[in-house]
Amino acid sequence: MGNITFTMIKPCAVSQEHIGEILSVINKAGFHFVSMKMLHLSKSQAEKFYAVHAERPFYNDLVAFMSSGPIVAAILQKENAVAEYRKLIGSTNPAQADEGTIRKMFATSVQENAVHGSDSDENAEIEASFFFSQIERFYK
Ligand code: CMP
Repeated sequence: MGNITFTMIKPCAVSQEHIGEILSVINKAGFHFVSMKMLHLSKSQAEKFYAVHAERPFYNDLVAFMSSGPIVAAILQKENAVAEYRKLIGSTNPAQADEGTIRKMFATSVQENAVHGSDSDENAEIEASFFFSQIERFYK
């Protein structure tokens, strides 16, 4: 089990001014911030990041949404980070997310679900490398 995961605070949560609250929830749950940046993904960058979903019916909408405004990208560190962070964010669909999870608190729909979290150690490293070089990482 790896000790990093990758997250994005999505354009919906950024535009609703939830960056500070979400970072606070992540910090209080014991995650260390290894790397962080705010940026606006281009359409082609969003297409590349979500290429694994290219065949899904929601892909075009997802790309349009993720390139609609700025996001916050971050690498998080904690023991068993991928599983621990997925517990903290809750189900993809906020209607099914448990009380106290980030998506329960801040998501508005299955697409506009406030945050992204990696689904495996392998993808955590691939996604982290999409945004951050080794010299931009500050491990604990
Ligand atoms: P995320 O964890 O970033 O991974 C893929 C994203 O696709 C997901 O969060 C949602 O934003 C979006 N997504 C997943 N399933 C659906 C769906 N059924 N309809 C619309 N968007 C979806």
